[in-house]
Amino acid sequence: MSPDPTARAVPAEWWRSAVFYQVYIRSFADGNGDGVGDLAGIRSRLPYLTELGVDALWITPFYPSPMADHGYDVADPRDVEPVFGDLAEFDALLADAHTRGLRVTVDLVPNHSSDRHEWFRTALAAAPGSPERARYLFRDGRGPDGSEPPNNWPSVFGGPAWTRVPDGQWYLHLFAPEQPDLDFANPDVVADLDRTMRFWLDRGVDGFRIDVAHGMAKPDGLPDMLPMEDTGLLADHGVGDHRFDQDGVHAVHRRIRGVLDEYEDRMAVGEVWVSDDDRLAQYLREDELQLAFNFKLLTAEWTADELRDAIIHSLSTVSGTPAPACWVLSNHDRPRHVTRYGGGELGLRRARAAALLQLALPGAVYLYNGDELGLPNVDDLPEEALQDPVWERSGRTKRGRDGCRVPMPWSGTRPSYGFSSSPDTWLPMPLDWAGLTVEAQSSDPASIQSLYRAALALRSGSPAFAGEELQWLPAPEGCLAFRRPGGLVCLLNLTDAPVPLPEGRVLLASSDLGGGTVPADSAVWLQA
Ligand code: GLC
Repeated sequence: MSPDPTARAVPAEWWRSAVFYQVYIRSFADGNGDGVGDLAGIRSRLPYLTELGVDALWITPFYPSPMADHGYDVADPRDVEPVFGDLAEFDALLADAHTRGLRVTVDLVPNHSSDRHEWFRTALAAAPGSPERARYLFRDGRGPDGSEPPNNWPSVFGGPAWTRVPDGQWYLHLFAPEQPDLDFANPDVVADLDRTMRFWLDRGVDGFRIDVAHGMAKPDGLPDMLPMEDTGLLADHGVGDHRFDQDGVHAVHRRIRGVLDEYEDRMAVGEVWVSDDDRLAQYLREDELQLAFNFKLLTAEWTADELRDAIIHSLSTVSGTPAPACWVLSNHDRPRHVTRYGGGELGLRRARAAALLQLALPGAVYLYNGDELGLPNVDDLPEEALQDPVWERSGRTKRGRDGCRVPMPWSGTRPSYGFSSSPDTWLPMPLDWAGLTVEAQSSDPASIQSLYRAALALRSGSPAFAGEELQWLPAPEGCLAFRRPGGLVCLLNLTDAPVPLPEGRVLLASSDLGGGTVPADSAVWLQA
C-alpha cells in the first residue's frame, strides 16, 4: 500500500509534548552545605526527577552574578557562578542527565547584563558617545540641565527605568539598576549572544529558556509611553507600552533560531508576556521560537469561565503556527498556585485537580519545582529575610517573589528538611513542612506527589493522550470537559458539589470517587 499523502507526519520534535521541570537553582538542592542550591545538588537529585517522570529540565541562571536579581543579572554568560559550582560540575550534570534520558535546557538572558559585566564597566569608564557606551542604552537627560530621565518609562521593579551616571548621562534598565539593557541594534551585542548560545550548545545543552523574550528591541527615539496602571510585576501592558513587544524583536528571534538550527534537536521557549493572541503567535512563526510560555493559565482565577477562556486563547494562539501550546501553572515569579487557589486544604485540593487539567492538555508542560509537593507560597517570611529587589525598590510596599522561592523540603522533620546539610538556608523554611517533604509524600499513595507520578506515567505511556487536538464536551454548569483524539476524557469540577462521572474507564482522579461522582474541586481522567 502506498503511504497516504494526506496523513500528517508524526512530529519528531521531542519538546512538543515534553514535561519540563523548572529547577530554581538556589532552591532545589544544596550539594555543598552553604544553604544555597547548586549544580551538585541537582546532580544528586536526578534519580528523583527520573522517577517522577519528567522529560527535561530548565535550570534558572547559574552564571557568574552579583545576585542583584538572583542570577538574572549576568556578569559573564559563559561561565558558572562559584556559589553554584563550576563548568566541570555542569558538564558532569549534563552527562548524567543525558545518561538518564533527561534533556537539559538552560536560561538565556539576552535583554540585559549585570552592571558588573565587563562591558558595562568599560562603558562607565568611557565617554558619552563612545563605542563602549553604544552596547547599552545611554542617553542625555531631559530638562535644562539634563537632570530628568530621557523618557517616562518605569522599571518593572519600581521607580524609573533610568539611572544617571556621574558625567550626567542616563542608562536604561527595564529591571533593576544593576541590570542595564543591552542595545540589540548594536552588532557586538548580537554577535555576543550567538557566541553564548554556541558555548552552551557545543557543551550539549538541549535548548534555552529565553528571559524577557519580548524585550530586546526598543523603539527608535525611545518615545514616552502611555502612563499605565501598575498591573503587577511582569504583566503585559499591551500596546502603548513601548518597553516590550516591539516589531524589531522578531529579527532577534530569527537570529536565535538560525543558531539553534545549526544543531540537531535543540529548542527555545520564550518568556513572552504578551497577552494578545495574534501578537503572541508572531513569536511562534516557523523561523522563530519553538515554544512560548502561555501565561493565561498561570494568571487565570479558579473559575470554569477563566480556565476555559485561558485554554481557548492558548490553543487559538498556536493554531496557525507550527508550535504546540505550552502550559504553566506556577514559576519563580508568581505566587504558587496552591495559594492562588485559596490556600490550605482547599488550595491543595484544587492544585491536585489543576495538575490533572494541565497534564491532560495537548502540548508541552512546565512544572515548577515544588508543584509536585503542593508547596504553598510562604507569605510570612520575616521582612529581614526578604531578598527580592522588588522589596526595596517598591519602598518596602511589595514583598516581591521570595514567597514562591523557598527551598524544597526533601526529608526529615525540621528545616532544612534535607535541602542542605546546614539548617541556615538562603530563605528560611517554614517549621510546619515536615508533612510536605519528598520523603513523607513518596510512601503515601494519597499524596500529591504520588498523583503527579501516576499522572506523568499515564501521560507518557497511555495511547489515550495521542493527538494534539482538543474537543470540548458538554459539561455541567461550572465544569470543563474535553476529549483528546486518543480517547482521553478530562472532566474538571469547579463547583462546590459533586457532578456525575462521565462514561468511560477511570484512569486517574484527583480525589476519591467513592460515590461514583466527581466531587467538588476535583478532576478525573477517563479512557472513553
Ligand atoms: C524574567 C525572570 C525574572 C527576572 C526578570 C529580569 O522575567 O523570570 O525572574 O527578574 O526576567 O531578568
